[in-house]
Amino acid sequence: MEQLPSAISANIFGNNTLISRESSILIDPAAQPNLPTLEEARAASLTATLDLDNIQGDILQKKKELFLFFSITNKVLFKQKLRADIKNRVTTTTQLLSVSHQPVTALNVAFSRSGLDALEVPDMLNDIAFSGGQEADNAVLGDPGTDNWVDAFLDKKIHGVFLLASDTDANLNSFLNDLRAILQGAIKEEYLLVGAARPGSEEGHEHFGFMDGISQPAVEGFNTPLPGQEKIPPGVILVGEDEDPISKRPEWARGGSFLAFRQLAQKVPEFNRFLTENPLLVPGLTREQGSALLGARMVGRWKSGAPIDLAPRFDDPVLARDPTRNNDFTFAHPGEDIASDQTRCPFSAHIRKTKPRADFASTDREHQIIRAGIPYGPEVTPAEAASNITTQERGLAFVAYQSSISNGFRFLQQAWANNPEFITGKIDDTPGFDPIIGANKGQERSVSGLDPINPKRDFDLKTDFVVSRGGEYFFSAPISALSGVLAA
Ligand code: HEM
Repeated sequence: MEQLPSAISANIFGNNTLISRESSILIDPAAQPNLPTLEEARAASLTATLDLDNIQGDILQKKKELFLFFSITNKVLFKQKLRADIKNRVTTTTQLLSVSHQPVTALNVAFSRSGLDALEVPDMLNDIAFSGGQEADNAVLGDPGTDNWVDAFLDKKIHGVFLLASDTDANLNSFLNDLRAILQGAIKEEYLLVGAARPGSEEGHEHFGFMDGISQPAVEGFNTPLPGQEKIPPGVILVGEDEDPISKRPEWARGGSFLAFRQLAQKVPEFNRFLTENPLLVPGLTREQGSALLGARMVGRWKSGAPIDLAPRFDDPVLARDPTRNNDFTFAHPGEDIASDQTRCPFSAHIRKTKPRADFASTDREHQIIRAGIPYGPEVTPAEAASNITTQERGLAFVAYQSSISNGFRFLQQAWANNPEFITGKIDDTPGFDPIIGANKGQERSVSGLDPINPKRDFDLKTDFVVSRGGEYFFSAPISALSGVLAA
């Protein structure tokens, strides 16, 4: 990474408000919904009494992000630094909403259960998955054991994670250096993962090439829903807020959120090969178009982001770029039977498995997450593309926020994506696995519905295109707790 002169870096870190930003640290492709303005969010928060200055601001997709996973080696020193140096630099939700309020580099911090134990915070947050840690969940999540896991995620070694976000490597690097200097002797760096938005016209797309970050729930008290966007009570995402499913939370945890982190490696050349070798032979389509259609039906959206429910045979880039239309669908259509019709969108498509919409009789507001991940790793090299074999790791640094991991990330992965029977109640067909993220402990995965001409045809996927490298569950505490109970 490029280095900035230390005098500048001290200024940046020492006083974030000195420098007024002119460009955002968040990416802003047309397909992704805009964040509310500061004024809109303030007006909305009045009705829901959300304290946006106390909620950490790790929202949506950034240009560059760095995850520093650490263990605490000196509890007393760490608490002192947390209270005196770190807390004031943690970025609030309010700050991220307008470019001029954004710091040069945004900082967020979250702790695992072993981290709370290391800080001697005995209070239970009453989330079973969080208490157990992610390693204990590896089988539940469909991983074939932990042999593929990054070593740092094993044995509850990780106590916390710093999330640094900015728009240039130089900014990130200089902030990281300052953070390291401040925390010297207090922490041990266990693992560093560097994420970056993909370059040029791929900005906002994940490594398979599909636009990401389109469909998120709208949180009451924060943003106004766009057409098709679900409005959910704040307690589905934020602990201690209205309609938090768990009633017993310590008061200090209010406004915090559980962060489920997963390092998901993506086998891009292998995925592309699968599409090339299995074009959907639909009348009127070339083989190339048939391959693109297969990919779109596996995801439920075209690479542009246009939903196949509204654009079933050909991509529609104009629809994709319009956030007032690109999420406005339910999978239900007059004259078509939602229990059997897969002409538009397979039951197994990634976005249908993880958010079934009108497949449920009533709106499901319980199993919702806010996704805030970022791609990591290099672009596919010409040699990899030519050989159809991945030689350099790349993927998604997946981040999901929710007030209950058991209702959120864990549920979506286990009960929906990995469950061949889901979506249940469909006539004459078992949907099979989510072809993108469904995991069967490394075994072959059967997926149905992908062929619109013969939806009962099963595809037996021998390769996992997404491979878990492990992760951890964290609690992104409200900012007040960083100088309160966590530093006491
Ligand atoms: C490498 C792994 C993954 C890839 C490549 C991927 C890709 C995508 C893409 C392209 C979309 C559509 C764009 C959008 O609406 O934002 C999407 C949506 C979504 N994904 Fe993933 N995803 C991955 C992992 C996960 C995981 C692990 C989960 C949860 C267990 C998940 C849950 C969701 C949800 C809830 C949506 C929105 C569905 C909707 O509201 O329509 N994804 N993903």
